[in-house]
Amino acid sequence: MSAAALIALDRILVILVAVSWGFAGGHLLVSRRAVGEGRGAARRAAGWSAALVALALVATAGRLAMTVALAGHGWWFAAEKALLALPLLLPPALAAAVLSLPRLLRGSFGPLTLIFPLTSAYAAAAGVVVALGMGYPLSPYLSVVPALAVLGGALATWSMLTRTGPPGRAWRVAGAVVALFALAWSGLSMWNARLPSSLRLASAGSLDVTALRGPADATRVRRFTLTARPAVIRLASGRGVEALTFDGRSPGPPLRVRQGETVEVRLRSLLPDRGVTLHWHGYHVPNGEDGVPGLTQNAVREGGEFVYRFRADQPGSYWYHTHETPNRALQAGLFGMFTVDPVTPEGFDEPVALHTFGGALTVALADAPPADGLATKTLSPGTPVRLRVANTDNAPHTLGVSGVPYRIAAVDGLPVTGRTLRDERARLAAGGRYDLVFSMPSRPVLMSAGAAGLLLTPGVGAAPAPSAGPLIDITRYGSGGTEAPQRFDRSYTWVLDRLIALRGGVPRLSHTVNGQVWPRVAPALVKEGEWIRFTVVNRGGEPHPMHPHGHHVLVLSRDGVKAAPIWMDSFDVGPGEVWEVALRAGNPGVWLAHCHELTHAAEGMTLHLAYDGVRSPFALDGHNHPE
Ligand code: C2O
Ligand code: CU
Repeated sequence: MSAAALIALDRILVILVAVSWGFAGGHLLVSRRAVGEGRGAARRAAGWSAALVALALVATAGRLAMTVALAGHGWWFAAEKALLALPLLLPPALAAAVLSLPRLLRGSFGPLTLIFPLTSAYAAAAGVVVALGMGYPLSPYLSVVPALAVLGGALATWSMLTRTGPPGRAWRVAGAVVALFALAWSGLSMWNARLPSSLRLASAGSLDVTALRGPADATRVRRFTLTARPAVIRLASGRGVEALTFDGRSPGPPLRVRQGETVEVRLRSLLPDRGVTLHWHGYHVPNGEDGVPGLTQNAVREGGEFVYRFRADQPGSYWYHTHETPNRALQAGLFGMFTVDPVTPEGFDEPVALHTFGGALTVALADAPPADGLATKTLSPGTPVRLRVANTDNAPHTLGVSGVPYRIAAVDGLPVTGRTLRDERARLAAGGRYDLVFSMPSRPVLMSAGAAGLLLTPGVGAAPAPSAGPLIDITRYGSGGTEAPQRFDRSYTWVLDRLIALRGGVPRLSHTVNGQVWPRVAPALVKEGEWIRFTVVNRGGEPHPMHPHGHHVLVLSRDGVKAAPIWMDSFDVGPGEVWEVALRAGNPGVWLAHCHELTHAAEGMTLHLAYDGVRSPFALDGHNHPE
């Protein structure tokens, strides 16, 4: 079974185990009273209790099997179950099987009959708490609490089952001490998890991010101005959508330059209620141009401006977007396409943005409104076509091309060499780009993404049906032409999860990295020139398109299967998947890295890469919200 299926099954089982032990324990307590109603009644009640205990034992065995199977996919998936949840549950469950069941079958409701099923019920309830709030790595500090709770519950139950008189004073005092301890412990953890109103993430070091800027004295400079402002945009159907825009458009004006030119973009803000920045997604800009509020600059306020400048040395398909409260502001429209041409483009070569506006997935070409239906373009047969498709949404989209064989010529801006695809489809991660290339045939071609699509037509012929072919594995599709290094200078593991965690001191359902939420996730420390290996593990039920700023990563393997290899800047780690990627530390700075499902990023799945010796004067505060 796949890790994803095991994770989903285990989530059901953990509840089933708790409910079944709860019922068994409750039934035992009620049945005990039947003893007074005569032998027949007691036997009948005991029979039912025994059946419930047996059921709970079966569920428990199922959970044990599930944990063993999960451990087979990697220790990250099983650790807290194997080290905490099961060690609490298995001993009382085993005792319930060996000691309680035979007694129960003899119709006895003595303390030894009851104590083990009841303790199992406490342990199973603790198992739910562990599943909700504890991931990988398991914190020994936190583990103490469920362990103590189960032990305390067992002792209290034993004392109640065996006492003859009223509960003693010593017992009341002990109860109060345990309760106070638990309260103080949770209060203390909340206190520890609160954040200062202004937090600098990189305050030591001799190289300041404000010194890591683009060239001020370049000769071939392309100048643009983008003004962020709210506007109502029109979709192709005529439907109006309230949006946040650059220059009144969304996608914003396409920026297209020649490789080697210096790009200078003046960002102005007319946004009344929020800041704005420009982040160059996938582009290896100097760190000071990366547009991350609180790390590389302060968010630009209404009436303010910021000038970005960098050399466009990297050809390919990229995009820009705001990084201040990006989950809302980017999704509301503050993004645009950025293309760098190595040579004069030929034929029909255009960025194509996939974005959901007002609930409708749209396809936007460079100079047309987003099409909330089919976008259409007429091309003469033989025209070379390059569609630079960018997914600017939070969720992955599945791309297909029907009517012509095609190739994916670039992934996340960088060229790949891969085979020709016929009716096959490819899933594009949130934030990612694929360049789809083919030669225009003498019949129509349909590029489809879910219900949306782009129809290229020579003017005659009926549109083909959207492709429904098999999905390719992009990590095995084509080679980016780089060999992985033989050894790494450092290794990091990012275990992605959905847990209840303290965000701003309040326990909330969050998206976590190694059990922590931003900005408490430990940064990945790197030194310039090093090769770093990252093992990225998804313990949750949703894909996590991970995106490190300022670098591409070389994908080495996915679920243990060697990749082509291929360079990516947004790689979609599916539920239960394990990716190994390599990063070459060649761009000093303080770089954000996060899930590009931006709701997840906002709920904690964000961290940063900190180069040794780099300092940032900026702070996370009421004004800067990069997540
Ligand atoms: Cu598309 Cu942090 O970025
Ligand atoms: Cu995510």
